[in-house]
Amino acid sequence: MVNNILKPDEHGLAEEHDAQPVIHHVPQGFSDRFALGFTKLLRFSADTFFAKRYGHRAIVLETVAAVPGMVGGMFTHLTCLRHMRDDEGWIRTLMEEAENERMHLMTFIEIAKPTLFERLVILAAQWVFLVLYSVLYLVSSKTAHRVVGYFEEEAVISYTLYLKEIDEGRSPNVPAPAIAIHYWKMAPDATLRDVVLIVRADEAHHRDINHGYSSKLGGEKVDRSLAAPYPEHATEIRLNA
Ligand SMILES: [Fe+2]
Ligand SMILES: [Fe+2]
Repeated sequence: MVNNILKPDEHGLAEEHDAQPVIHHVPQGFSDRFALGFTKLLRFSADTFFAKRYGHRAIVLETVAAVPGMVGGMFTHLTCLRHMRDDEGWIRTLMEEAENERMHLMTFIEIAKPTLFERLVILAAQWVFLVLYSVLYLVSSKTAHRVVGYFEEEAVISYTLYLKEIDEGRSPNVPAPAIAIHYWKMAPDATLRDVVLIVRADEAHHRDINHGYSSKLGGEKVDRSLAAPYPEHATEIRLNA
């Protein structure tokens, strides 16, 4: 059984590698192609490393996903201070994205426990990704937001495949963790399936916001009302229980 999870059959891996985003920003120019190439490289590594262990995959990747919002928020804050100009709501939006990703992590840590090796990967990945993403943001914030847009396209795919695992009975549909019920204001009898659906909706929202920011930085006009809606979150994220 353990072997099956760690070594999925060829068909399972192929299905993983072949999955394509339903909503996709068609790359235009070098910056977009770089962002897409970088994303596909990481996606390939994640597929190979985690295969179909979606709980573990979610934990490790959410530790990375919570970085860009904080980095983008900080650099935007510093830029606004230097230029003494309004941020048009970007800083709060990006900080909130980071917080939302951290809540994904706090939720999935209740579902799966990372192995010692995964903890080491998390440590190394945070340092490498923090430095890389910060440099990228300073060189081209447009490319940096496009990278997050593409990451989120992949996150939507991963959670769709996770749903399939639950629906086909390969991952048990356990009760939703208390922290998730509190944060997303879910029904008391909500399950993991409901959590995955709502997390996927969060990722779709981040995808559209970041693609929008990238396009805006590229001088395009962006209609924010077309972005996937954000699920309702509790403003008080600490669980006082
Ligand atoms: Fe996430
Ligand atoms: Fe996300």
